[in-house]
Amino acid sequence: MAGIYLHIPFCKQACTYCDFHFSVNMNSKPELVKAILLEIDQRKNYIEGEEIETIYFGGGTPSVLDEHELNSILEKINKEFKVAINAEITLECNPDDLTPQKLDQLKKAGINRLSIGLQSFNEEELKWMNRAHTAAESLSCVKLAQSKGFDNITIDLIYGSKFQDQQSWEGTLQTVVNLNVQHISAYNLTIESKTKLGVDHKKGSEPEVSEELSSEQFKKMIEVLQKNGFVHYEISNFGKENFFSKHNGNYWKGAKYLGLGPSAHSFNIKSRQWNISSNSAYIKKVNSAETYFELETLTDAEHYNEYILTRLRTIWGCDTKEIEQRFGKVMLNSFEETVKKHQKYFNSTDGIITLNTETRRKITEAGTDFFVISLVPGLL
Ligand SMILES: C[S@@+](CC[C@H](N)C(=O)[O-])C[C@H]1O[C@@H](n2cnc3c(N)ncnc32)[C@H](O)[C@@H]1O
Ligand code: SF4
Repeated sequence: MAGIYLHIPFCKQACTYCDFHFSVNMNSKPELVKAILLEIDQRKNYIEGEEIETIYFGGGTPSVLDEHELNSILEKINKEFKVAINAEITLECNPDDLTPQKLDQLKKAGINRLSIGLQSFNEEELKWMNRAHTAAESLSCVKLAQSKGFDNITIDLIYGSKFQDQQSWEGTLQTVVNLNVQHISAYNLTIESKTKLGVDHKKGSEPEVSEELSSEQFKKMIEVLQKNGFVHYEISNFGKENFFSKHNGNYWKGAKYLGLGPSAHSFNIKSRQWNISSNSAYIKKVNSAETYFELETLTDAEHYNEYILTRLRTIWGCDTKEIEQRFGKVMLNSFEETVKKHQKYFNSTDGIITLNTETRRKITEAGTDFFVISLVPGLL
């Protein structure tokens, strides 16, 4: 069982907050797609013999791929790997790309899960974010996708910006619930230093929103979404039963995955590797078969750290029996001591340790790594 991630590093315009790897110059798109096909030849053995359970087109904006580009990638994957009949195949898209014709093409290509970046329903906020769509387009594209037969839709939302007060946030959540989608990913706005928002923040023109406000929004979101049939199964993710993200779920459970395209990460239990974050260098190096990734072999301690850091993000939590089985009694004792010492952060039931709601909220700001490392000095 394994997954394939494809990073499509192009966007029509740069959102003010985003520091993912992407370019707004699409001239190299055809060459980049060819390089991805070549990378499949070069790296298919990384997950040799594994059945592919999930394929995930992320970005950037994968919905800028044209019909031929998308089909050529999927055909190559189907030719080179054993793809499960019921594989989950997700494509991230922006609302402004989702025309009726585009949706037909995606359906025909075999995409069975759409991840649509709505972010907000506030026109002013969307402009501030420099998004290429209006709130009306956000709403209509979800309905259009549903009318075209997409029955596994997830949407992305951002909270914790200066545009949302508690009342407008409740309105946003109600709008989301009414959309009748299967899954929601909601991220606390983070200010990244290299983005326009980061630069404006440093200049003092974009102050950070108070922790109390984003905390209230996080709690309200859990309350409203749970009431409406969503399970809060990971810090930033809510899904209806049977609609949790299989692809991300496999990351959190430590399954293997092959990442293709610039900046994509791969993991095959033994090692972790990540591709160069430059479109031109990636294309050049793939074509000349030079090395285009860095590689890190994981030690036993790193495997243990990964297990704790990823599992604590989810409702499945850390299983003390599994810790003992995989990492030994000494590691289990040290884990149990830490949990005992910092009891106020955890829930513990039948040997399963999870984070409590307040701690989950803190992590939306600081990150699991930061939180756990600050609890357990010397963990990494
Ligand atoms: C990298 S984007 C790719 C999806 C697609 N291009 C889009 O914009 O919808 C994935 C998601 O990351 C989230 N994101 C990116 N930067 C963020 C930030 N600084 N703070 C919070 N969420 C962020 C957004 O919600 C976005 O939908
Ligand atoms: S949020 Fe999405 S569309 Fe905006 S810059 Fe980032 S990847 Fe591109």
